[in-house]
Amino acid sequence: MTQTYEKPTINKIDFAMASKYGSPLKTQKIRQSIDGVPIAELSEKFGSPLFVYSQKTIEEKYNTLKEAFTSRYPDVQFSWSYKTNYLNAICKIYHDLGSIAEVVSEFEYQKARALGVEGKDIIFNGPYKPKEDLKIAVQEGAKIHVDNLFELGDLEAIADELNITIPVAIRINMNTGVYPQWSRFGFNYENGEALEAVKRMYAKGKLYLVGIHSHIGTFMLDANAYRLATMKIMQLKHQVEETFDANIAYIDLGGGFASKSNLKGVYQSAEVIIPTVDDYAEAITGAIYEFNRSDTLPQLYLETGRHLIDEAGYLLTSVQGWKRFPDGKKGYVLDAGVNILYTSTWYNFNIELDKRYEGDNEPSMLNGPLCMNIDIIEENLMLPALDRGTILSISPVGAYNYTQAMQFIRYKPAVVLIDTEGKARLIKEVDNLATINYREV
Ligand SMILES: Cc1ncc(COP(=O)(O)O)c(C=O)c1O
Repeated sequence: MTQTYEKPTINKIDFAMASKYGSPLKTQKIRQSIDGVPIAELSEKFGSPLFVYSQKTIEEKYNTLKEAFTSRYPDVQFSWSYKTNYLNAICKIYHDLGSIAEVVSEFEYQKARALGVEGKDIIFNGPYKPKEDLKIAVQEGAKIHVDNLFELGDLEAIADELNITIPVAIRINMNTGVYPQWSRFGFNYENGEALEAVKRMYAKGKLYLVGIHSHIGTFMLDANAYRLATMKIMQLKHQVEETFDANIAYIDLGGGFASKSNLKGVYQSAEVIIPTVDDYAEAITGAIYEFNRSDTLPQLYLETGRHLIDEAGYLLTSVQGWKRFPDGKKGYVLDAGVNILYTSTWYNFNIELDKRYEGDNEPSMLNGPLCMNIDIIEENLMLPALDRGTILSISPVGAYNYTQAMQFIRYKPAVVLIDTEGKARLIKEVDNLATINYREV
């Protein structure tokens, strides 16, 4: 057997390579299939890079989260957060599982409608809702979550134009003990802005309040923040019901539950630091029971995105070459970069090899195909010498990567869904010149 010569190197220990929790990737992590489908087969048939989603994982995560809430509370409704992943086939799975739609733009709204979701089953969030789209949503009975006073004014004008009074929900922000505070969206609770906005609604008499919403942040590591948020929502609910003889039929706790993704700069793994779904469910439902002053319980909406989809998504990417940098580190050139893995800025992904490779692990960097110095998927990873063509499975990448993928330098890759029977189905074709040039004039 002939062996290829590898130049010996002395490896400097970089910051974050070793810690009191050990060195990352001492042993090789290997993945040869996803839900029983060989990754080599997926890559060969559908190309590289390739996003792959597991319907089995989507359904398992959904059912586990649903159980955590419905076992504690009688009236829970999940609402699929489109921005987290709005591939039609993915949205359809959530709708088939019983989720309604949560959208933050006119195009997401139109996507939900095109998928057959009725207006009444769409929650319309977001800081900018163009008036003409707001009017359609009102006419179709969507759940409008008011973000600011300008929008309130637009809704009042729409009420006049249509000669109706409009049921709305209000989005509020608050201090939940988590910093930085998400205070950009909706009306502030503590400084009285939220109550003032409701006063204004009732003074004008064109709108009436049926719901209160708050999305306190994403990847929330403290379940108690949800207890505080729920407490404040319930307090405002009580105040509004007392003062304006209103009936707040629902409260909406937004999204924000963490996935098992490893945050950069945090030593412990996600397994250790993220709350369980029972922690989140207990914090929210416990606070509703504790602070409810009404004879009936409000319906509870949740707009969970990341937690439900992240671990169901993988990116298969292959090694196209490698270099030895002047500092001795090995740098691999992959066919996927930050153009399609937007969240690599915040997370250390789980990176698995397609087989066992001989040789010692050494500090390596994974770079993408972009002509940009920042195109780094992983800065410090212990890897054996990989061959050209090695397929790496990167996970969890199901949340926010496809929707935020940039059309930059390379075509957006194809997407495959492995259904519950273990069949791989193409759900989005790779872009081509025609898709890039589409609508250029
Ligand atoms: C209003 C709203 N709801 C739900 C979500 C989904 O959040 P997550 O993916 O953290 O569950 C977001 C995400 O930013 C949001 O802005």
